[in-house]
Order: sequence, then C-alpha cells, then structure tokens
Amino acid sequence: MATVWGIILVLVFAHFVVSISRFQTHKCGEPTKYLDKQLDSKYLNKVEFNDQEKVAYRCVRGYSQSDGSRISFCKKGHWTALNMKCQKRKCNALGDIENGHYSRDGQSFGDKAIAVCNPGYVLRGEKVRMCQENGWNGTDPICEGQFSKVLLSRGVDLKTCPTPKMGKRGSVEEPKSVYVPGESVSVTCNEGFNGSGVFMCNTSAKWFPHEPKCQMIRCSAPAVANGRIRGSRVLYKSTVVVSCSEGFDLIGPPQVTCGPDGQWQGLPECRPKRISATGKCGPAPSHPTVELRSSALTEYPSGVRIRYGCSLGYRQAGGSSSIHCQAGQWTPLRILCERKRCGSAGEILNGRFEYTGVSFGDSAKAICQEGYELIGPQTLTCRDKGWDGRIPVCDRMMFYEILDYSIA
Ligand SMILES: *[C@@H]1O[C@H](CO)[C@@H](O)[C@H](O)[C@H]1NC(C)=O
Ligand SMILES: *[C@@H]1O[C@H](CO)[C@@H](O)[C@H](O)[C@H]1NC(C)=O
Ligand SMILES: *[C@@H]1O[C@H](CO)[C@@H](O)[C@H](O)[C@H]1NC(C)=O
Repeated sequence: MATVWGIILVLVFAHFVVSISRFQTHKCGEPTKYLDKQLDSKYLNKVEFNDQEKVAYRCVRGYSQSDGSRISFCKKGHWTALNMKCQKRKCNALGDIENGHYSRDGQSFGDKAIAVCNPGYVLRGEKVRMCQENGWNGTDPICEGQFSKVLLSRGVDLKTCPTPKMGKRGSVEEPKSVYVPGESVSVTCNEGFNGSGVFMCNTSAKWFPHEPKCQMIRCSAPAVANGRIRGSRVLYKSTVVVSCSEGFDLIGPPQVTCGPDGQWQGLPECRPKRISATGKCGPAPSHPTVELRSSALTEYPSGVRIRYGCSLGYRQAGGSSSIHCQAGQWTPLRILCERKRCGSAGEILNGRFEYTGVSFGDSAKAICQEGYELIGPQTLTCRDKGWDGRIPVCDRMMFYEILDYSIA
C-alpha cells in the first residue's frame, strides 16, 4: 500500500515539475542588445518577461529611426527580431566664411569642422564646430581683416559702423562706440531670442552678413494630420497638447514644447486604428510617459476597462487613468503625465551647480571656485525620488592654504 502511495506522490510531483518547466520555457530573459539601439528605460530593470510581452527600442543618441518598428515581442521564450533601422544623423552644409574656409572631415553626427582664416585675417568667434543632434553647434565665426587699423594709424578717414543696439533682447561683448571696417562684434541674445553670432563691419560700413538683431523665438502654429491642438501659445518653451481625431491613435507624447530652434520638439503622429471584425481590441495603446497597470494582452474583449499610471519619473497632472474597449476600438487615452521636478540641488559653499535642468533625468554638475577642490560626486542626477547623492563640498586646496597662511 505504502509503495502505491509513493508512486502516486512521485507522479503528482513529476506532473508539477513538468508544468513548471513548460511555463518557464515560455518566458523570455533580458531583451536582445544592439549597438545602435537602446531599450526604452522603463524596460531596463526587468530580467524576466512573460510570453507576448513587448519591449520598445529607440536609436542611440546621434542616430534617428529611418524604418521599421520599435517593438520586439517575447514569443515562446524568444525575442522576435527587430526590423527597426537607425541612421547616423546628418547636419546641413555649413555656411561660407568670408576670407576663410572650414576644414572638415564630414557632416555626420560627431564630425568636426575647423574654421581657418586666410593669411592676414584673424579669427573672431568659435574655431571648432561639431555636428550634434540638432545641427552644428555655435555660429559661423568671422575672419577679421587688419587693413583698417593700418589705414587708421596713418590718419586715413574711414566710414565706420555704430555699435549695434540690442536693447533688452541681448548684449554686445566689449562694446566700442564705433567700429572700423574689418572689425567685428560678438552679439549674444538672451534666452528666448535667436540671432547670436559674430558680425563684421565691412568695407561699405555695413554689418556683415546682416545687421545684428535678436528676434523673439516663436514656433509656427503646430499641425498634426488627423489631430487637434489644444493651446495657442507659440513662443519659446510654451507647450501645446495634441489629441487625435476619433479612429486614430496617438503615437508619441501628447505634450510638445517650442524648442530653441523654433521647431516643435517631437511632434507626435496620429495613425489610423485597426478596426477588428470580432469586436475585440488589439494591444493596449502605449507611449513613453505612461505605464500599463492592467495585464498586457495581445487582445482584449469588448467592454473591458484597463488602467494606466505615469512612468517612473513622471507624475499624473490630470486626465483620466483608464480607457475601455468599445466595439473593437480603445477610447482615447487622456492621462497627462508631467516630468517630476527635483528643484534646486542646494547650495555649495565656494562653488556652484551647473544644471542641464531641474526635472527628472536632468543633471547638476558641481563646480568649485578657483583654489578649491571637489570632495564628493561631481554630478547629481534628478531621479524619481529627488537628486541622488549628497551635495559635494569644495575644499581649499593645500597649495592655497599654505599661501593664505604665509600672507596672514
Ligand atoms: C562644439 O562642441 C565641441 C565638443 O563638445 C566643442 O569642442 C566646441 O568648442 C563646440 N563649439 C562651439 C562653437 O560651441
Ligand atoms: C556689406 O554688408 C551688406 C549687408 O549688411 C551687404 O549688402 C554689402 O554688399 C556688403 N558690402 C561689401 C563690400 O561686402
Ligand atoms: C529666429 O527666429 C525667427 C522666428 O522664430 C525666424 O524667423 C528666424 O529665421 C530666426 N533667425 C535665426 C538667425 O535663426
């Protein structure tokens, strides 16, 4: 009798082991890694994924998506191949430099262009420019001629250019009351204004390439096919909210901001929904600032309601956190998620922070005054729960301490 029970127990146990291992083979491990693509950050800390679960990739910095889909699915324990293509970003051709030229190796992301002046001319402005994500950094420099100074020193009367008047929009570096032909001036526009650069007083006593002027940055009225725009402000840093017409899905974040180049940053797209004949809805809609809180399926029955929350680093600033499946279509997702703000990282005695911003993902770099050295981390990052790490300290360097002491 005891052996019969023993056999039954072994059978039950074996069945249990088989079910577990079958269940496990349907899961996927960490998603495939690619050189030119990175996983969206919300998938980074997961090591195990269920069957049918998906992950999204994006191109690494300096590359942009040219083709294919960003999504890979976990299918029976394997990640489906990704067909998305990433291409190195290219910058536009650089302008010409009067009395000089650019020497450059290419115009793709990371390439450099070096300004070289003809003999007898002196460079004013930035010498090295780099092809970055939003184009070449900096502005065209100027090759300043020295001939006027020679003429002037010989008492020749020259027509001159007056100091540009920038008002409250910008400033002139080391202004002089007049400029002789060949001299140049460097103009910096305040935040929210464009037109910074170096200008030269040319032989017709006119500023070249044009009169220095700081213009208020404004984006043209945004337009999204099959979508509507809420908000009408178009100045630098203002935001509008995009929503899609009935029957279209929003691809990308709903909130867009007018950038420093006068372009809306990352306008989303409205794509037609796939209408199913069965009355069922497809996968739950997604976008980077939200996270599905209900289970992820490839198909949902009609009438079902699913819930969302904001992704790590974002907080809900309005809207509704759920949508439901109605005759084969999801009702629009109207949750508004805002980047969390960390605010100031604090004060450093004998130093300061240089910020890329004060919201989630931004960083603050500690910089000590001359004669002081940094103790502690140089860079703090704004995370979900605030700035990571403690405020560093700027300590008097030994050499200066001795100096202070000997002076005292
Ligand atoms: C452009 O960026 C490169 C690399 O960061 C830097 O060396 C260069 O000085 C920058 N040039 C201008 C004009 O800002
Ligand atoms: C001087 O600059 C102006 C533009 O402000 C231009 O129209 C003019 O042709 C330039 N003159 C010379 C001699 O380059
Ligand atoms: C400055 O911005 C205005 C409006 O946004 C635009 O028309 C102009 O071309 C820009 N100028 C420069 C130098 O970028």
